[in-house]
Amino acid sequence: MNGYNKMDHVSPSGSPPLYTPLQGKTILLGVSGGIAVYKAADYSRKIRALGARVIPVMTMHATEFVSPISFAALTGEKVYTDLFSMERAETIPHIGLARSADILLLLPATANILSKAAHGLADDFLSTLFLAFPGPALFFPSMNSNMYAHPATQANIERLKSFGYRVVGPDTGEMACGDQGKGRLAGWPVVKEAILKAINPQTLDGIKVLISAGPTREYLDPVRYISNRSSGLMGYAMARIALRRGARVTLVSGPVSIPAPPDVEFSPVETAGEMEDAVLRLSQDAQIIVMTAAVADYSPAVRAVQKIKKGVPKLSLDLIQTKDILSQLVKDRKDRQIIVGFCAETQDLRTQALRKIRQKGPDLLIANDVSQSDAGFDVPTNRVLIVSPGGDIESLPLLHKEELAERIWDRISGLLHNLS
Ligand SMILES: Cc1cc2nc3c(=O)[nH]c(=O)nc-3n(C[C@H](O)[C@H](O)[C@H](O)COP(=O)(O)O)c2cc1C
Repeated sequence: MNGYNKMDHVSPSGSPPLYTPLQGKTILLGVSGGIAVYKAADYSRKIRALGARVIPVMTMHATEFVSPISFAALTGEKVYTDLFSMERAETIPHIGLARSADILLLLPATANILSKAAHGLADDFLSTLFLAFPGPALFFPSMNSNMYAHPATQANIERLKSFGYRVVGPDTGEMACGDQGKGRLAGWPVVKEAILKAINPQTLDGIKVLISAGPTREYLDPVRYISNRSSGLMGYAMARIALRRGARVTLVSGPVSIPAPPDVEFSPVETAGEMEDAVLRLSQDAQIIVMTAAVADYSPAVRAVQKIKKGVPKLSLDLIQTKDILSQLVKDRKDRQIIVGFCAETQDLRTQALRKIRQKGPDLLIANDVSQSDAGFDVPTNRVLIVSPGGDIESLPLLHKEELAERIWDRISGLLHNLS
């Protein structure tokens, strides 16, 4: 993956489509003077890679930690530091910037900038811009844990929240000063999701969503199992997009090697039986259920207590069919509940998908051909058919899994709208 996270921006050199959810957005990156300024430089590059124009605004103290030249080079933009260095008489820079941007990030936010913002002080470019900016501002505090725990800092954070601002983090861990505690700047996955949530219209605000993802493992003995190639990428992308649109998401996941999205209610499972139990239990109060998990169709009839010994030249396994969770969910469907299934096929995708939606009865079926190298299991992209119960089929092109998840959620939102 050339050093890229699987679900991040995909390299422009190959054929996979780019995923740039911040395309067309302008983000003001307000950098105040803490040790984490170097992380802000790295994040500025990552935010830019998601398609945004990133305009850095640094306090004078922030420039003591990293030179504005680094931010200028990483963002390709002029860096604003000085309130009184107007180049053209007709535009007042902090007012012009405040008008042109979609969101303001205070990253890192020092104890000092939290205090100034909470009390409306405007004595430099960044604090003045904050007051002039009418859009959403996000604070990402970063400081020594004693500074963070101080009642003055806590009161300032509460005051900012009472004004409607979101304060994200800080993380707990080892500080630059060597102390352990709460005060580290939030990590990139948390920062990324917070920005995308702030930018996205909250079309699923407060809706309870249950998503299943990943493979299951069906044990033959304590050390061996039958599984499949599902990586969880599609289900985790569905979870992230739902969170970005304001849903409350519960994710039931088989064993995968990717981290659970921040803010998800996570329920890890291993076998098809555990997946069934968890999904049926958690489905009771879910308004939308999305079953992306690749649940085993068959499981060994017997799970040996001890490791099966080598010796016999031929060994046969008895497999028994597992329960079909999607069919069961449809059978037990609650009032106004929306159920979406996924199916993976290696041949006759359309025919199989139409057969399955009629047989199992979900409100939508997402069908993917997993025999292709650029779609389906364990790749960042996918190409699917969205099948409706009436037999309508929408064929989507090869897309990054997050963009695909956006398209699928658009369709689910349409179903939700029809219910109201
Ligand atoms: C080496 C060093 C590291 C610092 N790290 C932090 C920090 O991580 N967080 C913080 O709130 N203040 C930190 N400070 C203190 C701030 O730089 C100081 O409060 C300053 O006035 C902040 O100004 P600004 O908010 O206008 O950038 C640090 C100071 C020094 C000298």
